[in-house]
Amino acid sequence: MVLDALQKIKAEDDSTLSYRRSCREGICGSCSMNIDGTNTVACLKPIDPDMRRATMITPLPHMFVIKDLVVDLTNFYNQYRSIEPCLKTHNHPRMDGNTGRAPRIGRSWTGCMSAYFARFLGPGPLIHAYRWISDSRDEYADERLRVMTDDMRKLYKCRTIKNCTRTCPKSLDPAVAIYKMKARHLLSSPV
Ligand code: FES
Repeated sequence: MVLDALQKIKAEDDSTLSYRRSCREGICGSCSMNIDGTNTVACLKPIDPDMRRATMITPLPHMFVIKDLVVDLTNFYNQYRSIEPCLKTHNHPRMDGNTGRAPRIGRSWTGCMSAYFARFLGPGPLIHAYRWISDSRDEYADERLRVMTDDMRKLYKCRTIKNCTRTCPKSLDPAVAIYKMKARHLLSSPV
């Protein structure tokens, strides 16, 4: 995998090379980067056997680079935190326990052209919001939707280009989740 090549370079050629990695199983998303023009996870990306051409590896696009392949995810985490990624019921308005889990969809967020517009939440936080809105145990779906549409740009800046769906190595479909939340919001809005 490309991650193994990076490990080898770091171990044998340049110990200063910086990148994130953790699970090495495509679960955590730490090793998200752009490889040959596609946002993906390096631990699941096979090395191109065609040695005649170089593989281009760059940091996730449109992000502030901290060093080499390490990008600043502060904005992404702020957006993610804002959707309150945990089960909420009236007896337990905030059941923490899921909030510490790193979302692995930063790569789809950075693949989204609209994610750079002010206030748009981006596909990663939005598919997580949909995860809770569509959970029958969660009793705050309408409230979540209201908060998400108090500024229409948070949800409605999505132009359904579907870069997020195309680049997700886990075959998630944020575009459909966003479409369903828009439909639910429109159907619940007074005419
Ligand atoms: Fe966790 Fe690659 S190291 S997804």
